[in-house]
Amino acid sequence: MSNYHIKHLEEYFQVYRKSVNQPEAFWEEIAEENFMWRKKWNAVLDWDFSKPSVQWFRGAKLNITENCIDRHLLTRGDQTAILFEPNNPNEPAEPISYKQLSVRVNKFANVLKSKGIQKGDRVCIYLPMIPELSVALLACARIGAIHSVVFAGFSATALATRINDSDCKMIITSDGAFRGNKTIDLKGIVDEALDRCTCVESVLVVKRIESEIQMKSGRDFWIAPLLEKASDTCQIEIMDAEDPLFILYTSGSTGMPKGMVHSTAGYMVYSAYTFKNTFQYTENDVYWCTADIGWITGHSYIVYGPLANGATTLMFEGVPSYPDFGRFWEIVQKHKVNQFYTAPTAIRALAKHGTELVNTYDLSSLKVLGSVGEPINEEAWHWYNDNIGKRNSPIVDTWWQTETGGIMITPIPYVTPTKPTYATLPFIGIQACLMDENGQELKGNQVEGRLCIKFPWPSIARTIWGNHQRYKETYFSAYEHKYFTGDGALRDEVGYYRITGRVDDVIIVSGHNLGTAPIEDAINEHPAVVESAIVGFPHYVKGSALYGYVILKDTGESRKHDNLRKEINQIITEHIGPIAKLDKIQFTDGLPKTRSGKIMRRILRKIAANEMENIGDISTLLNPEVVQSIIDNKL
Ligand code: WT7
Repeated sequence: MSNYHIKHLEEYFQVYRKSVNQPEAFWEEIAEENFMWRKKWNAVLDWDFSKPSVQWFRGAKLNITENCIDRHLLTRGDQTAILFEPNNPNEPAEPISYKQLSVRVNKFANVLKSKGIQKGDRVCIYLPMIPELSVALLACARIGAIHSVVFAGFSATALATRINDSDCKMIITSDGAFRGNKTIDLKGIVDEALDRCTCVESVLVVKRIESEIQMKSGRDFWIAPLLEKASDTCQIEIMDAEDPLFILYTSGSTGMPKGMVHSTAGYMVYSAYTFKNTFQYTENDVYWCTADIGWITGHSYIVYGPLANGATTLMFEGVPSYPDFGRFWEIVQKHKVNQFYTAPTAIRALAKHGTELVNTYDLSSLKVLGSVGEPINEEAWHWYNDNIGKRNSPIVDTWWQTETGGIMITPIPYVTPTKPTYATLPFIGIQACLMDENGQELKGNQVEGRLCIKFPWPSIARTIWGNHQRYKETYFSAYEHKYFTGDGALRDEVGYYRITGRVDDVIIVSGHNLGTAPIEDAINEHPAVVESAIVGFPHYVKGSALYGYVILKDTGESRKHDNLRKEINQIITEHIGPIAKLDKIQFTDGLPKTRSGKIMRRILRKIAANEMENIGDISTLLNPEVVQSIIDNKL
């Protein structure tokens, strides 16, 4: 039996028990047998959740690119590492072998060095889903620079905030991006952001859409001529196990986005191990995750996890709806995809267009279907199971977070019996628990509470960049000695978990994690707005959509309201990005407040969801009378 690849349910239970009873011995064996180290560790784990501080494989030395690339060159140099499928279906796919990837990463790493990037420097990456994006991550990792990828759908303001927060010295971008039948002016957005950033010394630009762009002399460089001149060998930087590998921002319920810091060794071990088992990846499979590398899903399960296993990972530049809603299935057929990993919002959007198109494609290569990012509702689960998997491919509903670095609760396909809407069992090494409102752990089954994790796992984020105090308060203060996830969950009679959703002010729209505070701050910038409150409401495709309650300075004529709605969404687009636009905007004279002045979002959520009958007690409000008026004017 290899603990690295679990194939039977008894094996899962046996390995799980070992991972909990002897975590250090367990992870030591996984690390030792499956990865390349330049030096072994002095200790497998040091931890103290009260500080909080977690260190895995202390004292070990390694480079993650040696594990993701170099070690595969002898055994699978000509195998495709990255299979690039462009936005335009008429443009040929580009298979990049491990050998070719090695050359591209080494050259890119040398270019970074030639621009003065050194170990520990932060490099912001703002690119579309093209091979250079994966190459740029790996090039940073090769020389020990810390990458901070910002999703290319974020606005100039959001980009500038993230660049400044981690003091990035360089930004890597492209002239533009293809997205369906549109192009996006990425370089223009970068230029606008950089008006607000003094830390950036150089900008490397990939040519993708051949558009006319401004190049600032001495700051901006086309990358192609630099790559051409660069040597194709670049020595690895030997990293400490706990050296940061990357920063990735995620929204909090309040304030600035949080720059989650992931470490090198623990992240590598856990992303690789979870990839292998959650997708049951075997030799010569073609694996496809449709996420963007701008999110953690792409970091762990397009780039690092698959490459550490010597897999073939497909990277898709486009969108599910272009040139039509059959695009995903066309790609599955064309490349004989074996594992397909997507988000419930995509499944629902595709389901809306029926099965006629789906049924024209041969999907028989599929073995495993994945879901991630938000709870998958029963209807979407069945549609996916019936029409895509033909009831032959288990669905792995994987629960995890930017902060966890890897999958935490999931079925193992062909091992764990699945159950619609349930993420099922904790992964190996994950000690999940449910807590009640009084901070007591709920024992036994058939209970519902707040989801916490009792013990560290290798890829837990180590801190928030520049703000360890906030890290402690956000994740380790709600319940003593436990990591609090921010999610609610229930455990059924056999111990399966079902995630019920966020219990804080984070709203998940189309699988994107959005905090209410930054959106409200953006709206409040509009000169006509006094105050606003955002809540989520159920939406068929997006899972949750945003409902805004806005108080205007002057109620004015109602015919102006449609213009105001457009302007408010425009401001949100400028501050955050189009993903945070509101579906509904209700103008109101007041917002329900507690006596201490806090907005009662619970009430607003009920109204937005049309659940007026169970609004609950409003008598303790400062202004109970506004509730009726909000209900009367509900959109
Ligand atoms: C939040 C984390 C993990 C990568 C993508 C999202 C929600 C995630 C599931 C799932 C129910 C899920 C949780 C979590 N979530 N996966 N399978 N079932 N909810 O990463 O942006 O950090 O968001 O997404 O609410 O806390 P993220």
